[in-house]
Amino acid sequence: MKKRSNALIFAALIGLIIVAIGLGFLMGVGNPIPWILIAVLLLIPFAYKKYHKPSLIFWKEEYSVGVKSLDDDHKRLIFLLNQFKTAYDYDTSADFERQALEQLVEYTRFHFTREEDMMQQAGYSDIENHKNQHIKMIAQVEDFVDQYRREGHDSLNEVSEFLSDWLIRHINGTDKQYTQCMLEKGLS
Ligand SMILES: [Fe+2]
Ligand SMILES: [Fe+2]
Repeated sequence: MKKRSNALIFAALIGLIIVAIGLGFLMGVGNPIPWILIAVLLLIPFAYKKYHKPSLIFWKEEYSVGVKSLDDDHKRLIFLLNQFKTAYDYDTSADFERQALEQLVEYTRFHFTREEDMMQQAGYSDIENHKNQHIKMIAQVEDFVDQYRREGHDSLNEVSEFLSDWLIRHINGTDKQYTQCMLEKGLS
């Protein structure tokens, strides 16, 4: 279910409880029901916080691969991913959603090319394996984009989760393996 729908359900619930409290007090302040409803009302923000798990991802120092230009690329990718997640989760205009997806795909390609060039310059031994992971990722993303062009918004269910998981796992696993090699070659 989309976050916007969740927020609307919580808002409707709060509205109903407030009306019920008002009606309860009309029956007298000694009536326990409105007091119970007030307690429920006070608990709703905690319940909402627990239920509404933010899906945005934030850069952490532990994601650093030790090479500034590539860290900057990864930060930019996280920003674009969050922009896409926001466009999708909050069901904004189709144009904004499409642009956000296209920007993310475009920057992913740009970053992969830069990273592969730097691995080449550094003489990194596992470059082919790394490039294959990039190729598979781009193929997967192109499938998503095709599906989106055919079916629209609803086809993107799970896409943002997939992209977040892939990106963080790739940075922390595969990308970090080139750190020592690039630093030894003085790349930054
Ligand atoms: Fe990579
Ligand atoms: Fe990377």
